[in-house]
Amino acid sequence: TSAVPSSVSAEEPPTLPTDRRTGCPFDPPAELAALSDKPLRRMRYADGHVGWLVTGHAAGRSVLADPRFSSRYELLHLPFPMGDIPEELPPAQVGDMTGLDAPEHTRYRRLLTGKFTVRRMRQLAERVEQFTTECLDAMEQAGPTADLVQAFAQPVPALMICELLGVPYADRERFQSHVAIIFDQTADMEAKGGAYAALLQYLNELVLTKRAEPTDDLLSDLTTSDLTDEELGGIGLLLLAAGLDTTANMLALGTFALLSNPDQLAALRADPALAERTVEELLRYLSVADPLTRSALKDVEVEGQLIKAGETVTVSVQATNRDPRKFPDPDRLDIHRRATGHLAFGHGVHQCLGQQLARVEMTVAFPALFARFPTLRLAVPPEEVPLRDRSNIYGVVGLPVTWDKEEKQ
Ligand code: HEM
Repeated sequence: TSAVPSSVSAEEPPTLPTDRRTGCPFDPPAELAALSDKPLRRMRYADGHVGWLVTGHAAGRSVLADPRFSSRYELLHLPFPMGDIPEELPPAQVGDMTGLDAPEHTRYRRLLTGKFTVRRMRQLAERVEQFTTECLDAMEQAGPTADLVQAFAQPVPALMICELLGVPYADRERFQSHVAIIFDQTADMEAKGGAYAALLQYLNELVLTKRAEPTDDLLSDLTTSDLTDEELGGIGLLLLAAGLDTTANMLALGTFALLSNPDQLAALRADPALAERTVEELLRYLSVADPLTRSALKDVEVEGQLIKAGETVTVSVQATNRDPRKFPDPDRLDIHRRATGHLAFGHGVHQCLGQQLARVEMTVAFPALFARFPTLRLAVPPEEVPLRDRSNIYGVVGLPVTWDKEEKQ
């Protein structure tokens, strides 16, 4: 088939629908579902320029796998389709490999992949078990009723990132609020800049400490590489920012989704060996890190459409993960399905570096939570759960839960 020229059609290109509040909180916005009849189509970005929206799974995979599509921030025009957008985006900060292409990206990626060793992941799995138990003990003592976000979903990933990087857990107050501001699309650029600078200063200080007194952690390990202090600080910041909110929102929103699908939760309780599949299915179903944007470096044909060099392409992770050609009956949460191949961790060279760690955290945390509280339920009507729909990471702001105290004795 020959490529169709990519002239803007007579039809006005839609903007990216992002409001998930109108229907089921776990589903993509209804307008996005309506745009998913074609694997890709024209879309208008917030600054007015027209690029492409990819909603088909196969098309999304091929864009993310193709080195002719760049991740360099300065080419993307608009990494975020809504919110407060600067006229021109600066290049990626030193050490931030999400905004780099090969070969710069490859250098960082190789160094880091080598540090996510099986031994380290195993150690972290043990720690996540201990820490999950501690969080659940504290939650049980203070309850019934708790905000699951504060009591569980945020502390577990925060501790794991601290362990990985060798950051004292007591320091988390110093970085958690800054990370939240960076992902908050309602925060202005000044607030974001301030949060970024504060985090970077913190990480830079930490790098100096690790150089002087190395301990058994990833950051100390990296001090023996040829990375500069500035690069190490930037990498530390990336890991901290990428690992916190993503996993926290998966845990909280995932709990909300399971509580809203009692048959699925009952199946998981009956057979905790389903935890791995449940985690994969929740990743697909919720797609919290969304969307992913790239810029074409060359003319590329995708699904018979010609994407021209310089055009922006946004892959809607949530739409691709609900593509019925890949996942039959996609709007159903089905923990028995094998949801492998979803794009919730991205795809290609930038595919999530922390995915093993995130999987370990969730595979331990969900069953432990539901085993501890057999009567866990929402403490408010589901429509009153506050959603994080103005953030690049979707989730809930809080999740009020309750349980029957006696039953545990
Ligand atoms: C990249 C999602 C947890 C570190 C990514 C990407 C996605 C993603 C979609 C690809 C971005 C792109 O292509 O532009 C998630 C989700 C998580 C999670 C849904 C939790 C459930 C983590 C954790 C860590 C981490 C725990 C750190 C330990 C990273 C890093 C990258 C990345 C460093 C950049 C990789 C690169 O550019 O080569 N993540 N992530 N993530 N993630 Fe995760």
